Amino acid sequence: MKIGIIGAGNIGGTLTRRLTSLGHKVSVANSRGPETLAGLAAETGATAVSVPEAVKDQDLVIVTIPEKHILDLPAGLFAGTPENLIVIDTGNYYPRQRDGRIDGIEAGLTESRWVEQQLGRPVIKAFNNIYAKHLMDLGRPAGAAGRIALPVAGDNSAAKMVVLRLIDELGFDGVDAGGIDESWRQQPDTPVYATDFDADGVRRALSEAKKERSAEWRATANSPGSFEAPA
Ligand SMILES: NC(=O)c1ccc[n+]([C@@H]2O[C@H](COP(=O)([O-])OP(=O)(O)OC[C@H]3O[C@@H](n4cnc5c(N)ncnc54)[C@H](OP(=O)(O)O)[C@@H]3O)[C@@H](O)[C@H]2O)c1
Repeated sequence: MKIGIIGAGNIGGTLTRRLTSLGHKVSVANSRGPETLAGLAAETGATAVSVPEAVKDQDLVIVTIPEKHILDLPAGLFAGTPENLIVIDTGNYYPRQRDGRIDGIEAGLTESRWVEQQLGRPVIKAFNNIYAKHLMDLGRPAGAAGRIALPVAGDNSAAKMVVLRLIDELGFDGVDAGGIDESWRQQPDTPVYATDFDADGVRRALSEAKKERSAEWRATANSPGSFEAPA
């Protein structure tokens, strides 16, 4: 597939490495420009591009930047792209550590519903609950005992099927986690978050999730602090 990746950090860099090694044609962008991605491009064979180029003429786009920076993406980024372009959102809202207050999420939107409202495009929520290093190293062949499973939420079944297949290619079981309004079940502070369960474990964890956002995961008047000193 032709895959655009916006964000070249922990997750974007990992997915660039893993997806190029599977033979996908990856175009990767960050905020500072393609010249700053020459090393990653040389290492992986991906093409370093600008953000608009990362969404142009792709089969699938992965948006993997800190939640607050979604607001910095160019307005109308997806205008003119085909309706069947699949967009994956890997994001998580860290109000007290990194992102500061995002009113729509604090008011009850799921994180991915808020993201898709900003992008003006439906998204599939995936890869948000696994550590980048585990995504890099812990893929296993289909059927391997203890193969890690990843929840995938989205309102478009056809797009979700494509993402579930891609996750299998990467060495993980995909678990259909419902639509975007249900995707709170895989957000930070839920049982499935950062836990590396197998498929049965993921299903159980999703069913045990509690919808209410705890105080620890809400912004305060002083947010954001930092990962070392959340505020
Ligand atoms: N780290 C993990 O293990 C992990 C796991 C699952 C999900 N997540 C979530 O996935 C998202 C990405 O996390 P990460 O850890 O990969 O982040 P990260 O390491 O901090 O990397 C962020 C990347 O986003 C780019 N970026 C920021 N603003 C941008 C903009 N306006 N346009 C284009 N690129 C922009 C940065 O580019 P520059 O460096 O040029 O600014 C950088 O390449 C976050 O929401 C995070 O919570 C992270």
